[in-house]
Amino acid sequence: MEQQELKKYKILFVCLGNICRSPSAEAVMKHVVEQRGLSHLFEIDSAGILSYHQGEPADQRMQQHARKRGFELTSISRPVKTDDFWHFDLIIGMDDGNIRDLYIRTPDVESSRKVVRMSRFFRTDRGYDHVPDPYYGGAQGFELVLDMLQEACEELVDQLLADNGELIEKRD
Ligand code: 4NP
Repeated sequence: MEQQELKKYKILFVCLGNICRSPSAEAVMKHVVEQRGLSHLFEIDSAGILSYHQGEPADQRMQQHARKRGFELTSISRPVKTDDFWHFDLIIGMDDGNIRDLYIRTPDVESSRKVVRMSRFFRTDRGYDHVPDPYYGGAQGFELVLDMLQEACEELVDQLLADNGELIEKRD
């Protein structure tokens, strides 16, 4: 019997510096799909709008808060590149600035349709339409980011499984 090839979802999380929010989203998403036994169905990565922190590990504060919840942030900061828009199926920005900057960088109309905002997957109304940048704030900001990302990643996987990939056909 011929085996049907499984569709692999390629997801790129993007924030400004790729040292706080998007590396956390990457780690949380990897954890969620692993827990559900779906790792083989996903390719998950993260990148930043800025190249300022290129080559750096995730922010120490972000790492500490994430580790307390069982997430190891292992990615190294890199900026978004043109090839990302062709390679990934979904490119998920954390806030309005990220979405705007991603649209500016999209090489063609087709890839601009892959850009979505993370808040689209929020289940709880915390009064935010974005994942707020925790970089210049205190501990609460890092915890809030993780609360939002954990919830949104669960919802994202639910939606992807439910609509069999149609999510990538819908633009924000
Ligand atoms: P991130 O946080 O976008 O969540 O990685 C930031 C990290 C660094 C800077 C801004 C936001 N920065 O201005 O250097």
